[in-house]
Amino acid sequence: MIRRYWDLKNQPKKRIILARTNAYHGSTIAAASLGGFSSVHDQFETLPYVQHIADPNWYNSGGDMTAEEFGIAAARELEKRIDELGEENVAAFIAEPIQGAGGVIVPPDSYWPEVSRILKERDILFVSDEVICGFARTGKLFGCETYGTEPDLMTFAKAVTNGFQPLGGVMVSDKVASVITSSGGEFGHGFTYSGHPIACAAALATLDIMERDNMVDRVANNVGPYLQKRWAELGDHPIVGHTRGVGMLGSLELVRNKDTKERLEPEQNSGGICREFCIDNGLVMRAVGDSMIISPQLIMSHEEIDTMIERATKALDQTAQHYAV
Ligand SMILES: Cc1ncc(COP(=O)(O)O)c(C=O)c1O
Repeated sequence: MIRRYWDLKNQPKKRIILARTNAYHGSTIAAASLGGFSSVHDQFETLPYVQHIADPNWYNSGGDMTAEEFGIAAARELEKRIDELGEENVAAFIAEPIQGAGGVIVPPDSYWPEVSRILKERDILFVSDEVICGFARTGKLFGCETYGTEPDLMTFAKAVTNGFQPLGGVMVSDKVASVITSSGGEFGHGFTYSGHPIACAAALATLDIMERDNMVDRVANNVGPYLQKRWAELGDHPIVGHTRGVGMLGSLELVRNKDTKERLEPEQNSGGICREFCIDNGLVMRAVGDSMIISPQLIMSHEEIDTMIERATKALDQTAQHYAV
């Protein structure tokens, strides 16, 4: 759709799509090329017109910079790359508001305003991948609202049906739609199951319940702040070097030494050990390298959040013991 848009705007040279390291956008050739995992890229031939800039992970890459300084520096990588490639060759930038599968990477507050400035000054489409952040997860209906960005396209899935039916889609701004439809011809796309009535019925029912139960408000003003308060307390644990989170998303970094950020093992895979202890304690928590990440139910009660923190603490104690910390 992005290509078609630029062709119709008589700018056929605009082909390159910029994405970020540790991004996750899916596993088809196109989506996995946009994703930023080199271990995945090693397994197939990536699309030649996708390039990556670094993700805004302050804890891992911030060095001596404050979070705010690092956020600006990370955003300016985008500016530098666009200017090196030539604005006339860059079609779009795709990003998750908060990178999920890459480790719940919450960008510094300075990051998105600077990215927005850079994109506004240049003629480049912005795609917000809302597959994780969409539908109340960050305390607004969409993650882009939490960060004040203005996407031209938005991808969504998962929570739109509460996961009960498979449904994903792309929301298209008037700016893009008006160009695509202006050609008079048909936009050639579609799948056998596009707009499948059962999946769409599940989505409509889910959205009704979200509205009825004021789910956005619940995450913004009730369970989200409670989860963040309790999650941040895990930062006091001897092997937790850093915690971060927004709304109903959280992550923590496992370390041997909080001051030097030395990891628990040179292979940087301690999350796998911690995950096994979590499961033993009746808690399903995902591991990404040395990070533990959560994206729990929006309907969680405070008591359930307490139980989760209790079980996570127990698993962290066992992990510390395992590594003799
Ligand atoms: C941000 C993001 N985008 C895209 C996808 C891919 O979605 P699907 O697995 O439905 O293709 C995922 C899946 O986890 C995701 O987290």
